[in-house]
Amino acid sequence: MIYKNLRKVIYKFEPEMAHLLGENFMKVLERAPFAGAIWRSLNTVSDERLKQNLFNTTFNNPVGLGAGFDKNGTMIREIRSLGFGFTEIGTVTPLPQDGNPKPRLHRHIEEETIQNAMGFNNGGMENMRKRIEKLYPFKFPVGINIGKNKVTPEDKAIEDYLTLIENFEKFASYLVVNISSPNTPNLRDLQNEAFIGELFTKAKERTSKPILLKIAPDMSEESAIELSSFAVKSGASGIIATNTTIDYSLISSPRAFGGGLSGKVLREKSFKLFDALAEELYGKTTLISVGGVDSAEEAYRRLKAGASLVQVYSALVFKGPSLVKEINSGILKLMRRDGFGETSDVIGSDRK
Ligand SMILES: Cc1cc2nc3c(=O)[nH]c(=O)nc-3n(C[C@H](O)[C@H](O)[C@H](O)COP(=O)(O)O)c2cc1C
Repeated sequence: MIYKNLRKVIYKFEPEMAHLLGENFMKVLERAPFAGAIWRSLNTVSDERLKQNLFNTTFNNPVGLGAGFDKNGTMIREIRSLGFGFTEIGTVTPLPQDGNPKPRLHRHIEEETIQNAMGFNNGGMENMRKRIEKLYPFKFPVGINIGKNKVTPEDKAIEDYLTLIENFEKFASYLVVNISSPNTPNLRDLQNEAFIGELFTKAKERTSKPILLKIAPDMSEESAIELSSFAVKSGASGIIATNTTIDYSLISSPRAFGGGLSGKVLREKSFKLFDALAEELYGKTTLISVGGVDSAEEAYRRLKAGASLVQVYSALVFKGPSLVKEINSGILKLMRRDGFGETSDVIGSDRK
């Protein structure tokens, strides 16, 4: 209710400015004596039944923040205080880059959908490493999502990813290879077996940390399954499905700047692809579902379909920070209804 009213004010600001204001507000709250701890306890659902061990790390609950919200890793503590079980920072590239020219971000409020053509705007690897070094070890699991610079040609892309892996493997609970953003020209062309085979083989020689592949929702089910299975065979520790979609038929009036759609209109498309992937890969690797998750029921559906973890991004903008608590307490209620003792009993229960 409070957020519903606050939203009206937030939406008066251009989306990137609103994001910055939100970040600064959270920072002030985090640092104010007692306020940070009180805020965190208000948002957090602490319950043993939500806990899981994955990637040699404890996840206190299965709800994480999707990549792109905290591109530079400047909000790690603040995100934990929102009640999330984990976060994924990035996408970070080796060199800093500005991203695409504005306008590049739009809220389709009625459709609870975000259209973004950001283009990996971020402060670069060195900048992020110096910052997160000071916070390490983190108080909850932190994934690091990596991407190539726009100026790096396709035949040199592998070097960008390997450099990023070498620089961040120490800090990351898991790493994510992002070759599924629609906003870096030709990036999605790297979603092929030759690139993935070489990348994961070389990456595994450099780190024992888990590396996951994030895929686009616009692939056919058949190619997504083929590519993901191949990635797992080549050494990937999991699949994150999905990134944003370029299927503009899903929205009434897409903005001319293009980019990817996320939120409500992505929900069914993302679930359908995830479900097809899980049919093949559940039990063989770790699966994370993202795309249109905006309620406990939706998160629960993803867990039952085979997701060990879910992520949210757009729904946080439309529903506000109370969403995380709502999802976690809702999952517990649904577990009680269905007689599940632990989250791990829910995961993949539809596949058994
Ligand atoms: C503004 C914006 C920026 C994003 N940036 C990234 C990014 O840098 N890297 C990435 O892997 N995904 C990025 N995403 C995609 C999200 O992580 C997520 O996969 C997608 O939004 C679907 O989830 P949602 O429907 O809950 O938003 C971005 C999404 C949005 C809305």
